[in-house]
Amino acid sequence: MTAEKVAAERPQTLTELFTLARENLKEKGQDRQMPSGSNYLASSEANRRLLDSVFMEPKFLDPVQPDTSLTLFGARMKTPAFCSALSKPGQFTDEEMADLVRGMGNAGSMMMLGIGGSEMLQLAIDTGAPVVKMVKPYRETELIYTKVKDAESRGCVAVGIDIDHFYGTYRDGRSTRADTFSPKQMDEIRQAISLTKLPFMLKGVLSLADAQKAIDLGASAIAVSNHGAGSFDFGVPAIVALPALAEAVGDKLTILVDTGFRTGNDMFKALAFGAQGVGFATQILLAASAGGAIGVEEFIGFVTGELKRTMAITGCADLSAIDRSLLIASPEVRKWW
Ligand SMILES: Cc1cc2nc3c(=O)[nH]c(=O)nc-3n(C[C@H](O)[C@H](O)[C@H](O)COP(=O)(O)O)c2cc1C
Repeated sequence: MTAEKVAAERPQTLTELFTLARENLKEKGQDRQMPSGSNYLASSEANRRLLDSVFMEPKFLDPVQPDTSLTLFGARMKTPAFCSALSKPGQFTDEEMADLVRGMGNAGSMMMLGIGGSEMLQLAIDTGAPVVKMVKPYRETELIYTKVKDAESRGCVAVGIDIDHFYGTYRDGRSTRADTFSPKQMDEIRQAISLTKLPFMLKGVLSLADAQKAIDLGASAIAVSNHGAGSFDFGVPAIVALPALAEAVGDKLTILVDTGFRTGNDMFKALAFGAQGVGFATQILLAASAGGAIGVEEFIGFVTGELKRTMAITGCADLSAIDRSLLIASPEVRKWW
């Protein structure tokens, strides 16, 4: 089969991409490809509902030519869509995970890698994609320090810790990993940051108090995230927390966001509320099931294409032009912002 024929038979829409993913997963006997996160998913669902209540005023005449490129952690990217921290799910081999990372690199984006050893990290870095290592809040603090140093020595562009996973996922009345993870004290994080020259990110920041502490600790970035509702069901939804955090500390910290973002228009709204990059996790896993690196590249292409289209008709020639003045929130949610 020629390369053109293969390309012509690949999915042409997001629906086709995910239909293919589900067919492939079914073939492997895996109907449920994503962890459910938690019992209630309240924050995730609120993120979705609120995102769906914000609109943009289009100006169809004289659209601009948008440029979606940016620099994040020193890496040049073609899109503000990145892969939020992912630990390799059980049904993915190391090679399949590396292929997912390769897709992110091919798309001109960035990968954040969660739980996993040095070998997996090296495979990811060897794809050439910019990789951020996200270290868990291990109960054994020395392990955090070892992993931070390992990330730097292997060539990650940044490193961080998901402070919100303090006892793992809370599900069915109990924390799944309370034996492995624990809440971290300022001194422990300060020590981790002092061990590396890499930009350091705290993931799971939803309050001004934590954002202020991130600055005090010398972190350079925060991810405003509900961890897909995997840590605290009723944490303030990321899209509600984002604008106030961006306004208060956006000049001192790089601000990323994730949880519940699904489309290019979602990305536009997050950028308008002050995020510099928008993380996708479950969608990218699903896209990888639709064709490995190619499926992932296609997914990033779809959402970036939609972002571009919206930028064109809202008069945004580059990402810095996207701001809150372009958003119109429905009356019932306006009080949030
Ligand atoms: C399979 C899987 C593994 C994940 N592993 C990590 C991890 O190791 N560290 C972390 O900070 N977040 C992890 N997350 C959470 C994601 O980074 C992200 O915060 C969450 O899934 C919300 O984004 P989404 O709505 O696009 O999925 C994981 C998510 C999934 C689905």
